[in-house]
Amino acid sequence: MDFKFTEEQLAVQAAARDFAQNVLKPGVIARDREAKVAVEELKQLGQLGFFGMMVDPKYGGGGMDTVSYVLAMEEISKVDASVAVCMSVCNSLVNWGLETFGNEEQKQKYLAPIARGEKIGAFCLSEPEAGSDATSQRTTAIDKGDHYLVNGTKNWITNGSSASIYLVICQTDREKGHHGINALIVERGMPGFIVGEKEDKMGIRGSDTHTLIFNDVKVPKENRIGEEGFGFKFAMQTLGGGRIGIASQAMGIASGALELAIAYSKQRKTFGKEIYKHQAIAFKLADMATQVEAARLMCLNAARMKDAGVDYTEAASMAKLFSSEIAQFVTSEAVQIHGGYGYVREYHVERLMRDAKITQIYEGTSEIQKIVISRGILKD
Ligand code: CAA
Repeated sequence: MDFKFTEEQLAVQAAARDFAQNVLKPGVIARDREAKVAVEELKQLGQLGFFGMMVDPKYGGGGMDTVSYVLAMEEISKVDASVAVCMSVCNSLVNWGLETFGNEEQKQKYLAPIARGEKIGAFCLSEPEAGSDATSQRTTAIDKGDHYLVNGTKNWITNGSSASIYLVICQTDREKGHHGINALIVERGMPGFIVGEKEDKMGIRGSDTHTLIFNDVKVPKENRIGEEGFGFKFAMQTLGGGRIGIASQAMGIASGALELAIAYSKQRKTFGKEIYKHQAIAFKLADMATQVEAARLMCLNAARMKDAGVDYTEAASMAKLFSSEIAQFVTSEAVQIHGGYGYVREYHVERLMRDAKITQIYEGTSEIQKIVISRGILKD
């Protein structure tokens, strides 16, 4: 394993850090309080190329590797986990899915505008009764010859109202189980497609999470990704890479909380000295730093495996499981180190603690990651 980053990777990391610290940080507390999407900031991030990082330049992307993506996700997530999840969904779910499995026309029409930062995408799998149990899709896509007629409801969809391109997983033939599922590209504005209620969330409040409603939406056949019945495998494979994104988001949240805790411990004094000089605090920081470092290595390992073209399914799930678990511990300890200040909204650490929780839930709960990992390590 090569432990040195290339010049290009370091440049991407520096650009993401600069953007996070100078553009995202000033308004992040207000956006969280008001549950406001960073519309202008997302536009700028898109123009800088952070939504199409790994996409082939011929489709308007940056042609970067997954390692660069992990480094950028860490820097953005340290400051604004809401912007980071938008970036993760665009890069690793929507773009990767379209680039890997879409046809040329779909790539030109749908992938390129997202990669160029002109449009935002959403990945629509979860339903009121199909979250972890992804095969139990109730949204139907009935085959009507030249189009599918889509009916149903999707829940908790990230980028629900800011997106204009939606990858929607639907059931076409229930008797065929997961082989009867299709992935369809739905455009904002198609008649019958309604962006429903926005969720009032505990964390990542600057990200727009919505219910989506489909009432007799006519989706042309050419908007199906892959062969008939490929939708479930499309979702599973796409989520594999998505989990590297969310693992990096969780690791970035933890890494941000650690940086804040270190800075605070050097400035705050108790009993006549800076608090980091008390072993109780220094040991907490040592534990936090060790966990962040382990999570970072797991994220980079999964990324390197993906870049090397080897199967990274379990590595991605392990990285997500571990990073999201340590993010709970690290952010909670950061609040503890800040004491009373850590519990008020004027300081960043309480937001990071709330933001961390979702990383154990979306793109497969911790329990789902354990299913994926255990199946992987136990297979013959
Ligand atoms: N790659 C390719 N194919 C895969 C696969 C993978 N990683 N995982 C499973 N499959 C295939 C299997 O080979 C099988 O195909 P065959 O029948 O042809 O052999 C088929 O898919 C069904 O597999 P399983 O029998 O393993 O399916 P299962 O019902 O037991 O479920 C599961 C497996 C891993 C639990 C899956 O349901 C799962 O991942 N659930 C979690 C879903 C999830 O992550 N939801 C998050 C929503 S998206 C989101 O949060 C986005 C956001 O906005 C942030």
